Amino acid sequence: MNDYTKQPSLRLTVMAIGMISAMGCSNTADNAKTHVQQAETEAKKIDPRNGNVSIWPTLDIAVKQDPAVEAKVAELLSGMTIEQKVAQTIQPEIGSITVEDMRKYGFGSYLNGGGSFPGRNKHATPDDWIKLAEDLYQASIDDSLDGSTIPTMWGTDAVHGHNNVIGATLFPHNIGLGAANNPELIREIAEATAKEVMATGIDWVFAPTVAVVRDDRWGRTYEGYSEDPEIVKAYSASIVQGLQGAADEDFLSDQRVISTVKHFLGDGGTEKGDDQGNNLDSEQELFDIHAQGYVSGIAVGAQSVMASFNSWHGVKMHGNKYFLTDVLKDKMGFDGFVVGDWSGHGQIKGCTNEDCAQAMNAGLDIYMAPNEWKKLYENTVAQVKSGVISQARLDDAVTRILRVKVRAGLFEKPSPANRPLAGKKELIGAAEHRAVARKAVRQSLVMLKNKNQILPLKPNMNVLVAGDGADNIGKQSGGWTITWQGTGNKNSDFPGGSSIYDGIQQTVQAAGGKAVLSVDGAYQQKPDIAIVVFGEEPYAEGNGDISNLEYQRGNKTDLALLKKLKADGIPVVSVFITGRALWVNPELNASDAFVVAWLPGSEGAGVADVLFSDKQGKVRYDFTGRLSYSWPAFADQGPVNRFDEEYNPLLPYGFGLSYGDNNVLADELSEVAGSNPDEEMLARALFERSAQAPWSLTISSGNERKGMDSKFVALSNIEISTLDKDVQEDARQVKWKGGEASVSLGAAFPEDLRAYIEADAAMTIDINVESDIKGPVWLSMACDGADCTGGVDISRVLRAKANQGWTNISVALSCFEQAGADLSKVFVPFKLQSEQPLKLSFAAIKLVPESSESADVNCE
Ligand code: BGC
Ligand code: BGC
Repeated sequence: MNDYTKQPSLRLTVMAIGMISAMGCSNTADNAKTHVQQAETEAKKIDPRNGNVSIWPTLDIAVKQDPAVEAKVAELLSGMTIEQKVAQTIQPEIGSITVEDMRKYGFGSYLNGGGSFPGRNKHATPDDWIKLAEDLYQASIDDSLDGSTIPTMWGTDAVHGHNNVIGATLFPHNIGLGAANNPELIREIAEATAKEVMATGIDWVFAPTVAVVRDDRWGRTYEGYSEDPEIVKAYSASIVQGLQGAADEDFLSDQRVISTVKHFLGDGGTEKGDDQGNNLDSEQELFDIHAQGYVSGIAVGAQSVMASFNSWHGVKMHGNKYFLTDVLKDKMGFDGFVVGDWSGHGQIKGCTNEDCAQAMNAGLDIYMAPNEWKKLYENTVAQVKSGVISQARLDDAVTRILRVKVRAGLFEKPSPANRPLAGKKELIGAAEHRAVARKAVRQSLVMLKNKNQILPLKPNMNVLVAGDGADNIGKQSGGWTITWQGTGNKNSDFPGGSSIYDGIQQTVQAAGGKAVLSVDGAYQQKPDIAIVVFGEEPYAEGNGDISNLEYQRGNKTDLALLKKLKADGIPVVSVFITGRALWVNPELNASDAFVVAWLPGSEGAGVADVLFSDKQGKVRYDFTGRLSYSWPAFADQGPVNRFDEEYNPLLPYGFGLSYGDNNVLADELSEVAGSNPDEEMLARALFERSAQAPWSLTISSGNERKGMDSKFVALSNIEISTLDKDVQEDARQVKWKGGEASVSLGAAFPEDLRAYIEADAAMTIDINVESDIKGPVWLSMACDGADCTGGVDISRVLRAKANQGWTNISVALSCFEQAGADLSKVFVPFKLQSEQPLKLSFAAIKLVPESSESADVNCE
């Protein structure tokens, strides 16, 4: 047995690091504590169902009610059955309905989720998109089965351009646009997006996100323009007008799409930045901070509002009548419809995805019911018939939906395939749209450091371009890019786009210089300068939640690259790809210049436009981007926002250097990450909703291996697919068909997990064993050789839990070590292997300290 497991020093080291980091910054921890206490007291005072309506304004809405429209809606409504009405309120997903379902039910709308394409084909062409839109539309107006001729409409997440479509222009994500602080640019982006969406026959866009993001640990930070309502308020009006047209111009003409302000309300203010979490702000703060994008977006005529997954003081927004009805509709005067978020109604207390009268009663008009639409439809019909949902409430919901359809001209416009922009492939990724995106990239860049005025660079130099973000359009585009998470994309998935390296290469070559791409920074001829492009891997929604703002915590490979280049005497320019402001003091110290590129999207060439001057040294484009999020001084700082009473960021809201400005950051910033002395060792997730970095999920059998890069992956004798346990796609189902096969989490580099042994950790797995157990099932941890791999047969435990639904199992980490695993260099922290047929699903897999003693498998 290895004796390092017996050394108490490892644990101590963890604590000692924490203690050093505490020096000089205990204030922050105290602040955090008082904040929590305040919030708790506040929480006790607030009744989340019953607020103070007088806080909310009655808006002067630019789109007025038109008697002719209202008369048409009333007439339509008077001829509808309960079934037809309920069908208007149900929104299924394209992956779970057929054209025949549409003919039979006549749904009022449908959506494609992130990473969901016609025919499940990632490379679906614009023609494929149009064909689906046309077929579903025709089925919706076909009254042969449902007696209804009301046209359906298609909603999609075009959140940074038409991002589910190959070849579309991908604009910078909202965080970068916030830094550009240019409402006119936002309108241009929205107009271009509307055109690309219409070219595929789609009517409706689930954007803008007007979240005001207070805690950058939130996985959706990049979907927000700012931490402060000022820019969000200005932008919401611009984007809504850009998508829909202004009320007094070509409102919802055939060049425009319906927009959605989302997610109502308070999504950016949840505790600890938890996705779908709980917001504890006072009602006044909710209005002052989180509601400003609704105030402006609705005033210019946004036709839909999406309810948020989050709770306010413990009550889910989807079921909150006070906000959805009393505030939004009755007081503010919003007369469009409220659409739910992805099965969001199912999260209300007492509801399931299939059954939720509470949501409609609270004021939800359309249930986003991607998969469980059928039962939900049946239950809702029954609830109206029995009076659980009143006729009046249903009629109000349908009136709102029809009002928007009439305003959008859906009864007059030709069918999707015959609209003026439909099928105009030249609009998808059009040169003029790309030019707008490239301009947006230039305006979004924020320069944090420019020591000795090293930037701009002259283009006729010998430039080394390093880092794994340099030539990686998928990485620079982030989540919500072709796939939901933005993972699994290659440069070839972005025809017409450019990587950051592409732009550098073109600029340098045109000036007679030389640019060499070398991801790991190796070079033959010493370059004049190195540009290193690095940063976060793509993620979306809760998959991006983090507990600490330290970049590459425990695994600083990019810092090592910067340091190596510096040690070679090469000046280093860092270009940081990120969806949020992260603690990067060590990387700042190791860089001569540091530029935040956020998530620029498909036009990476815009970065070189700004980094390089002309040959004579004359600036071509200056840096005009300014932080719309405060930059943190510590990794565990928690929320730091403009106008905080005690405001202590590293760099404040509004900061950004222009060319010629004096450098402000010290050369040697503190490299102590934390300010919290008693940080306990926390549970570490290997899998939580998705594989946690650096690990990824693979299935293998014999010599065959496949990474899980889509919702369903199969080899001849094993297959794996995504499954919803508590939230969407948080679980995986694995089927072994017989013959040796395994599913594992692995990475290219080893991790030292000995501290977890020291902390008496066990591996816990949320599991649902769905078949009988016919033979051994091995759970192991592995290195890259046989001599340091160790596993245990967990068939006995699995058998005891078979066919019981979701439960969990735990295995003491020491078992793996006893079986021969070398915990100091773990490449594969989880591998489940069987030769016999087996079916099971798993969700969270964690290493949980202090739990080995009570583990199901404990090898003591
Ligand atoms: C997201 C929304 C999105 C919807 C449809 C949800 O999970 O929260 O922002 O519009 O899915 O894809
Ligand atoms: C996303 C969808 C995505 C789905 C996957 C949702 O939260 O918004 O667009 O496809 O989850 O289950």
